[in-house]
Amino acid sequence: MPEPVTRTVCLLGFGNVGRRLCELVARNDDELAERHGLRLRFVAVGTAAHGSLLAPAGISAADVLELATDPAGGRRAFPEPVRLGVELLLASGADVLIEATPLDPHGGRLAIAHLEAALGHGADAITVNKGPIAWDYRRLSTLAAAHGRRLLFEGAVMDGCPVFNLFRSCLPDCRLLGFEAVFNSTTNFILDAMGEGVSFADALAQVQAAGYAEADPSHDIDGHDAAAKVAALANVLMDAGMTPDDVPKDSIRAVTPERIAAARRAGRRLRVVCTARRDGGGVSGAVRLTELVAEHPLFSAGGSTLSVLLQTDLMGTVQIAEIGALPEQTAYAVYSDLLALHESR
Ligand SMILES: NC(=O)c1ccc[n+]([C@@H]2O[C@H](COP(=O)([O-])OP(=O)(O)OC[C@H]3O[C@@H](n4cnc5c(N)ncnc54)[C@H](OP(=O)(O)O)[C@@H]3O)[C@@H](O)[C@H]2O)c1
Repeated sequence: MPEPVTRTVCLLGFGNVGRRLCELVARNDDELAERHGLRLRFVAVGTAAHGSLLAPAGISAADVLELATDPAGGRRAFPEPVRLGVELLLASGADVLIEATPLDPHGGRLAIAHLEAALGHGADAITVNKGPIAWDYRRLSTLAAAHGRRLLFEGAVMDGCPVFNLFRSCLPDCRLLGFEAVFNSTTNFILDAMGEGVSFADALAQVQAAGYAEADPSHDIDGHDAAAKVAALANVLMDAGMTPDDVPKDSIRAVTPERIAAARRAGRRLRVVCTARRDGGGVSGAVRLTELVAEHPLFSAGGSTLSVLLQTDLMGTVQIAEIGALPEQTAYAVYSDLLALHESR
């Protein structure tokens, strides 16, 4: 059997997703080498406040996890001081950047700078951070093409569930006319827990403890995360050229238990529903608190079950659902993007 090809990785962000990715790669190291002829070696890992790792010779995912875990099984900072992401990436000479830092709902500049540095310096880029796709997709995809690099982002919307890949690979010649979706687990959990009599604050604490909420939960609660997903999906699949600022959004802060209870009594569910549709010459999107009737195909989306209805010209409406979205699924999105990169070379 030929020697596996080694690809070197710079991972920016070692939180829920970054750690799960290392666990997944560590578990599948042999599978990657034997079945796919791919060996992944980490040359850099960056965090905001837990040190950094720079190992230009490359270490395995299992070694990254060992460095980041103390003898009691808790988290340990990486050995070197925190460094700027771009500096770390360039010093590492990585073949692939994995962007897994938190969403910046006001322009996504930092993550965009990470991707620009990668694509401009000969590396491919994978992002689970939806910010760059929501704010700057056209320019970044043009930059990738100009440098003969790839920009992949399956995890940016609905975690590891193939939304971008399914539409682009399995629905040839279809034009996306619009979509309707429940994209945010955090607001699902909070609305449902409030319907069971749990306070807003306690419901939020539960969902944060489970690792679903964005680092700053106001991004979920006030619709910024959902608006970024609307813009990302519309930019990629509808060439919308929009940003999250173009998407009007409802917050769930003002929702009362009484409103949720009244919806329930009427056999309805309150959900944060994301939409986009072609509108004249352009595309418009929205994030709206909506009461879904039991017959609606999105009615069963709740908790960590997310779903999107893709309205197409040739294939009618296609529904995609992800049952039980967890950070592990987002890590899988990166894993599948890494394989796609490897197999396209
Ligand atoms: N969690 C999910 O299920 C999920 C699903 C889909 C998409 N995503 C997206 O994936 C990304 C990561 O999510 P997560 O849940 O893993 O977030 P997280 O747990 O908050 O982790 C974020 C990581 O990024 C690091 N970081 C923050 N600023 C940084 C900077 N300037 N340079 C380098 N590292 C920096 C943090 O450092 P410290 O460790 O020092 O804090 C932390 O390690 C987000 O954009 C999120 O929207 C997450």
